[in-house]
Amino acid sequence: MSDDAAEVEQPRESFDRSAHVYDDHVGFNHAGAQRLVGALPQREYHDLLDVACGTGFATMQLIDRYPVRTVTGIDASAGMLEQFSHKLSRHPDITATLRVADVLDMGVPARSMDLVLCTMALHWFDDRAGAIAAMAAALRPGGILALLGPGPGHDAQFVEISRTAVPPILPELADSILSNEIYPDEMRGYLRLAGLRELDLWVERRQRRVSPDQYLDRMRAVASHLWAHRTPDDRETQLARADAALCAAQTDGAFVYDFTKLFVVAEAPESR
Ligand SMILES: C[S@@+](CC[C@H](N)C(=O)[O-])C[C@H]1O[C@@H](n2cnc3c(N)ncnc32)[C@H](O)[C@@H]1O
Repeated sequence: MSDDAAEVEQPRESFDRSAHVYDDHVGFNHAGAQRLVGALPQREYHDLLDVACGTGFATMQLIDRYPVRTVTGIDASAGMLEQFSHKLSRHPDITATLRVADVLDMGVPARSMDLVLCTMALHWFDDRAGAIAAMAAALRPGGILALLGPGPGHDAQFVEISRTAVPPILPELADSILSNEIYPDEMRGYLRLAGLRELDLWVERRQRRVSPDQYLDRMRAVASHLWAHRTPDDRETQLARADAALCAAQTDGAFVYDFTKLFVVAEAPESR
């Protein structure tokens, strides 16, 4: 990576770039959000906060099942919020507040939410424990936090390909994949610190079969900030090497990789 900190992009810059195609490339995440929402205790979820909501597909799953009255969505990327805003405009009965904000400074009143959702975002936050504490603070007594993130060993096959190549292919992506992993015990520590009670926590490992193009399109949609410091030529070279290596690693015409997710449902105590 470049030593020049000014050239290092933040995740929101990737998401600003990919917002218009994001949903097309993360279909498996939609399915995960559906399973997370399906695992919630049956309650009245009137006031919902979606943290790092992106294009809002977790919220959209919830709206389909529960009579939500207010949706607050915060995200670092204005482009992602714009996509979410289009979707919410089809629900004039819901009062929506979408704003660009950091997870540690959401501007949400304490104890105002029945449900806080956070899907596929915790791994991008510098302070995971602080982020969970901020989400917990927004919950009413008895409110629910529902979280989905990358679990241990996700995309391990790409990490192996990257690290065994000489020189390594997109090493910044492999490093990021490993540092993004969230372990169950790590998560339990964050919940304890935030004063939340674990209701359900599980790791799901599925094997995905995709074309090399689909794999790289997903990485472009979620992580292009990682290689933005490279020159355009170098970027093309790295992506072409990644494509060739993924093609060589195909089994029966597909690149097969582990798609591992951590799911969490936790509750704020009735008295705090
Ligand atoms: C992979 S997307 C997930 C979006 C959505 N929740 C989903 O499930 O598709 C990660 C989101 O986190 C946002 N993000 C990253 N860092 C953030 C921060 N510190 N505060 C708020 N949002 C952040 C990005 O802008 C991006 O929209």
